[in-house]
Amino acid sequence: MIDHANDAKASFDELYLQADPRDYFSVLGSLDYSIPDLAKPIFKQVAAGFRAVNGRGATILDLGSSYGINAALFRFPISVDMIRRRYARREMMALTSEQVRAFDRAYYASWPRAQPERIIAADVSASAVEYAVDVGLADDCIAHDFEASAPSADVVAKLADVDLIISTGAVGYVTEKTFDAIVKASGRTPWVVSFVLRMFDYDAIAERLAEEGLVTEKLRSAVFVQRRFHDEDEAKQVSDLLRAKGIDPAGLESEGLLFAELYVSRPKELVEAMPLDWLVRVASGRNLSFGPRLIQVRRDGKRLLAPLRP
Ligand SMILES: C[S@@+](CC[C@H](N)C(=O)[O-])C[C@H]1O[C@@H](n2cnc3c(N)ncnc32)[C@H](O)[C@@H]1O
Repeated sequence: MIDHANDAKASFDELYLQADPRDYFSVLGSLDYSIPDLAKPIFKQVAAGFRAVNGRGATILDLGSSYGINAALFRFPISVDMIRRRYARREMMALTSEQVRAFDRAYYASWPRAQPERIIAADVSASAVEYAVDVGLADDCIAHDFEASAPSADVVAKLADVDLIISTGAVGYVTEKTFDAIVKASGRTPWVVSFVLRMFDYDAIAERLAEEGLVTEKLRSAVFVQRRFHDEDEAKQVSDLLRAKGIDPAGLESEGLLFAELYVSRPKELVEAMPLDWLVRVASGRNLSFGPRLIQVRRDGKRLLAPLRP
């Protein structure tokens, strides 16, 4: 069953149904939506861990992907704020969705792409996932609500080679029912990396994944800003809900921000060989405005550090 904690949150459902992501970035950007930026290094570290174990890039399913923001950040050196600023230009606002898509296709095609990972965008919103494929963020897409109905044979076939499920802002909308359908269809027992708002329970999902032999670890040493509250009502409802669940919002939600936690599920033997706090590392402050001063370059086949030039 969908967690009623969802009722405490502001609803942005209409934003997910547009033919392009301008409204999405305008509204969520105005609330400093941050979780894709903060999740990006973690997704990269887990994908690198998967590569190290398996000797190949994972097929990644971004669950509740919306317009493919996690794919964009995974593939290209960009941030939510950079995308938001592009769309905030007056000239961009005047374009049709078709023109925005053509412009975005050219923009993303202009970045070099090095990673071997395949990315599938999955969401109930067909327009959002079709956008993600159309502009080159995702390699394939699934538009299906696993909470509401069983997947078609076509969807099951697309899930067959999923190695790694990632999500931001999706748990709450999706439950163990969705994970059940996906792991049943995947022939590969996928690893799962979920960023989950503190008000949502993850136990039922972890239990379903345990039936597949996956051990779920929660990173206890870090919490991740999802976004600012929409208004005081949302802040109050979420804080009340957290307290009712025995979770103290002091110093976190009580200061006006929604926070997510990180859950990672992997096969037992890998968890034993390399616990979560070895697999991922939070470089706190990495996103501060002063930025890096050095960059790694290759010269004569050697890796060197060189000063970054504007
Ligand atoms: C808060 S947005 C997060 C989008 C994206 N992951 C991000 O962080 O930018 C939640 C997304 O979940 C999708 N969603 C809602 N119910 C869903 C379901 N039953 N199955 C899959 N996706 C769903 C919505 O369409 C929306 O795109």
